[in-house]
Amino acid sequence: MRDPTPKTVYLKDYTPPPFIVEAIDLDIDLRDDHARVRSRLAIRRNPNMRPSTGPLVLDGDELALESVKLNGRPLAQDEYRLDAQRLIIPQTPDALALETVVRIHPHQNTQLMGLYASKDGFFTQCEPEGFRRITFFIDRPDVMARYTTTIHADKARYPYLLSNGNLIAQGDEGSGRHWARWEDPFPKPSYLFAMVAAKLDRLEDTFITRSGKRARLQIYVEPGKLDQAGFAMQALKKAMKWDEDVFGLELDLDQYMIVAVGDFNMGAMENKGLNIFNTKYVLARPDIATDLDFQHIDRVVAHEYFHNWTGNRVTCRDWFQLSLKEGLTVFREQEFGADMYSRPVQRICEVRHLRATQFPEDAGPMAHPVRPQSYMEISNFYTATVYEKGAEVVRMIHTLIGKENFRKGMDLYFRRHDGQAVTCDDFVQAMQDASGVDLTQFKRWYDQAGTPVLDVSDHYDPTTQRYTLTVKQSCPPTPGQPEKLPFHIPLALGLLDRDGQDIPLWLEGDDAAHPPAGDGAPGSTTRVLSVTQPEQTFTFLRVPAKPVPSLLRGFSAPVHVRYPYSDQALAHLMAHDSDPFNRWEAGQRMATDLILKGIAELKAGRDLVVPESFVGAMARLLKGDEGYGPRDPAFAAEALSLPDENFIAEQMEVVDPDAIHAVRTRLARILAEHLRDEFSHAYRAHAVPGPYSPDAASAGKRALRNRCLAYLAETQDPQALRLAFVQFETADNMTDAMAALSILTHFDCPEREQALEAFYARWKDEPLVVDKWLRVQATSRLPDTLEKVKRLTEHPAFSIKNPNKVYSLIGAFSTGNHVRFHAADGAGYQFLADQVIILDKLNPQVAARLARAFDRWRKFDGGRQAHARAALERIRDTAGLSKDVAEIVTKALG
Ligand code: ARG
Ligand code: ZN
Repeated sequence: MRDPTPKTVYLKDYTPPPFIVEAIDLDIDLRDDHARVRSRLAIRRNPNMRPSTGPLVLDGDELALESVKLNGRPLAQDEYRLDAQRLIIPQTPDALALETVVRIHPHQNTQLMGLYASKDGFFTQCEPEGFRRITFFIDRPDVMARYTTTIHADKARYPYLLSNGNLIAQGDEGSGRHWARWEDPFPKPSYLFAMVAAKLDRLEDTFITRSGKRARLQIYVEPGKLDQAGFAMQALKKAMKWDEDVFGLELDLDQYMIVAVGDFNMGAMENKGLNIFNTKYVLARPDIATDLDFQHIDRVVAHEYFHNWTGNRVTCRDWFQLSLKEGLTVFREQEFGADMYSRPVQRICEVRHLRATQFPEDAGPMAHPVRPQSYMEISNFYTATVYEKGAEVVRMIHTLIGKENFRKGMDLYFRRHDGQAVTCDDFVQAMQDASGVDLTQFKRWYDQAGTPVLDVSDHYDPTTQRYTLTVKQSCPPTPGQPEKLPFHIPLALGLLDRDGQDIPLWLEGDDAAHPPAGDGAPGSTTRVLSVTQPEQTFTFLRVPAKPVPSLLRGFSAPVHVRYPYSDQALAHLMAHDSDPFNRWEAGQRMATDLILKGIAELKAGRDLVVPESFVGAMARLLKGDEGYGPRDPAFAAEALSLPDENFIAEQMEVVDPDAIHAVRTRLARILAEHLRDEFSHAYRAHAVPGPYSPDAASAGKRALRNRCLAYLAETQDPQALRLAFVQFETADNMTDAMAALSILTHFDCPEREQALEAFYARWKDEPLVVDKWLRVQATSRLPDTLEKVKRLTEHPAFSIKNPNKVYSLIGAFSTGNHVRFHAADGAGYQFLADQVIILDKLNPQVAARLARAFDRWRKFDGGRQAHARAALERIRDTAGLSKDVAEIVTKALG
């Protein structure tokens, strides 16, 4: 487990595997304090690598080898070598059967990688390199084998024995034990292996595929929780139908299983036919899950299901290509979300998330391209860049070549590569070949890190009615990449006239006969400009008056746009832009400018001035057009949300977390005082009658209502806090209860303590709800929050061994409580360092994730930097540090 000298692995060093494994026959015998794993591998030298004479090298981690046989003959000690990470057999024939027997200890596996024990039984997580913790294997994704898996366990304690593919045999054996054998018809990389032996309850359903095949769907949950599995089952069926309708992709198995487990490092895992999920993304019931939880379940269930084609049928050649499956699958998941919920609101949330996680990553010490060029620990590269920016890159291809060509490209990709392990280049090539659009320059998005900046300026000539946009692109340096080549950036835009109407767009040089594939046709009101040069001008013809540009509509590229918008122009866009994303964006720009100005004022000892235009725009959002109430409450809720403190911090040269917090809170209070009546009216007007339903329309109303409640509380009027408390007490659903509690947590009032106590008393036996209780306390703005968080680490509700608990308490404090984590005295940093050091001994992967909260430490003032540096150095100098955490802290300090 401990690797004293973490090595860097480079993409440029990739070579195909010298051996391939055609089949693996696993026999896993689960005992009280260990498991015995026998594996028979059918191996041969890779014919594409001839002539080759090298040794056979198998990966292994924390495996106690009991025996090894080659073609049935036990190997003597001098016929193989064993080190901490490998089994090496120097002399082998070109084809061989290798049998190993190892002993492993699932009960002591606190890393939760490989085979581990959890409350209800045994579970696995093999991506990316967990399979080597189960047996010796060539543990890399371009080695694809056929799996047969036999599991033995106590029958009463572990009634379900599951693995990938189809159940082909089962039976009882002596002393109350039983066994089951599974066979997966599809060759797969080891990271997609899974097995479960557990006592669970099962929800069953069927789905008839569009070609008429009947598939059995099963969801396995902790005993007694079947009433929380229904929504996930519906989500699965929606996803199956959607993938058939939109991409023509059908399930290729007779049986599809989802197993929920409470101890899980990440969200979920797409193992072939046997997805294993964090309970957080399966279990839901109106009284314990919020609207957002329901939405996340829809999306994660869909995400893992979509992987069956984008990831499993076509997989990655090596881990540098991770975004091949993740970027593409996140994109598919986003499109599914857009079709199931409100497309603009989904997009807004995705961009908010991208800016909160990926933009800072791209600007910090861990910045890496969508296809990284090196890593020390691949687990550290399951990042916002690989996932979310990767999805943006796929979306840009979609934008550039158009929807129909994109579908053709997908079809071609599967025709060419089904059953293969391929690269991001192969994907782009399919898109290029299917569309005829040259994507050569576009491919730089895969290899260059950093968030590009577009500096846009304009000129209008009333005599010629020509409107010219000048677009300059640049990209800041990132580790190892001081200079960048220009990107190919799809810039979607529109022009608004004085009445807020879209102007038809005629570009100089338009070729009506051959419009570019993804662009709107000449004369349409949204066009996609291909920005490819460091500096470029675009001239629009027949523009009757100086327009207001609506730039980067729908957030058509993951870039920063700088354009000198006046407040008036922003108000115009907020009121009229036909692109809802940019209507939202204009409001966020206005609020950000206001807060940044307010911070400067505060430093000069002056109070924040909120212009009437801003208050008026917010009031209009609440009132909508016809009568009372906005047309789309979900949109209004987003548009009424001020930019996060983290986001504001990214816009500053030197971050001042106290000033950001003070000014942002002040702005909320001023708005609340000006619009008190409007907020309380909207609060009352958007009550959702009838029994709870998580549908998008009801969720939107609740979101707006709860946003109004949050503003009302900002007045600190005891009445308003009372109102929050009453909502907390009377809510019949978790969304409203949690919204009220999240408001109360910020105010030092008796209702706060009362609500927190009542909440815990009621929900202490529901782990996912206890997570919410921890999170809400960790994100409180009250000054004693760190002390409370420290005390909570000792509370029976907390366990450092459970990733969900760690993320909810320590993670939420360090990434979701900007002002308290970045306290000037360094106490937040010291606390995080302590926790990272403790956790690293148990679960390095999760410890490394926590340590990422230090990423932006250099953006703060000298005092804070000194505290952060000391904390990072203390972690770095800890004896026996994992390579996971070592990579994060050395890069942060480097
Ligand atoms: N492939 C999974 C998904 O995104 C994530 C697995 C990540 N696991 C890990 N140990 N980093 O759907
Ligand atoms: Zn994924």
